[in-house]
Amino acid sequence: MAAKTKQQLLEELKAKIEKDDPTPELRAGATQLVFGDGSPDADVVFIGEAPGKNEDEQGKPFVGAAGKFLNEMLAMVNLKREDIYITNIVKYRPPNNRDPLPAEKKAFLPYLQQQLEIIQPKIVATLGRHSLNCFLPELFISQCHGEPKRVKISLKGQKNNSLELVILPLYHPAAALYNGSQRQTLIDDFMKIPIILNKLSSNSKGGNNAK
Ligand code: URA
Repeated sequence: MAAKTKQQLLEELKAKIEKDDPTPELRAGATQLVFGDGSPDADVVFIGEAPGKNEDEQGKPFVGAAGKFLNEMLAMVNLKREDIYITNIVKYRPPNNRDPLPAEKKAFLPYLQQQLEIIQPKIVATLGRHSLNCFLPELFISQCHGEPKRVKISLKGQKNNSLELVILPLYHPAAALYNGSQRQTLIDDFMKIPIILNKLSSNSKGGNNAK
């Protein structure tokens, strides 16, 4: 039997979240699950916090003002939405757009890790502190933004029990949108994406001296 495609595996994972119902209260208050969007073969996966109003209505992450700004930055590095994959830690909209609760982030983390295990991206760009702290809980975004970090996460109860990732901490586009200096910092950090990708692919052909 042919191996399943990444797209099929992602669809199965989405169905599993719907069946497991990890956050019944959030699900009850939301219109739908916002699982993720983009290419299952993407080199770069972006991870936000949780869907907002527009995302809840349309079923896709980052389709509002923050998403428009994200698309503009993608264009600056010659990428389109179809080239990347984008998702959130928490996959149902929290009421009144409040911050996701620690228990909600924890409930969705295993599914997020499985999403990354399926896609196998070269870079995971975390958007904002919630997303950064899912992978690197001790770091402050103001001190590490734009600096790629290698992490090894353990996947409990799974076949391959660990996953190595390169995390690129970025400010959240919704926060940076209305803050002039943070906006420029985010753009400057974003411009590093092609440089890091290049470095990682030349390392995979030879040595391994990337940060
Ligand atoms: N902010 C997020 O963190 N995620 C979205 O999908 C939209 C806005």
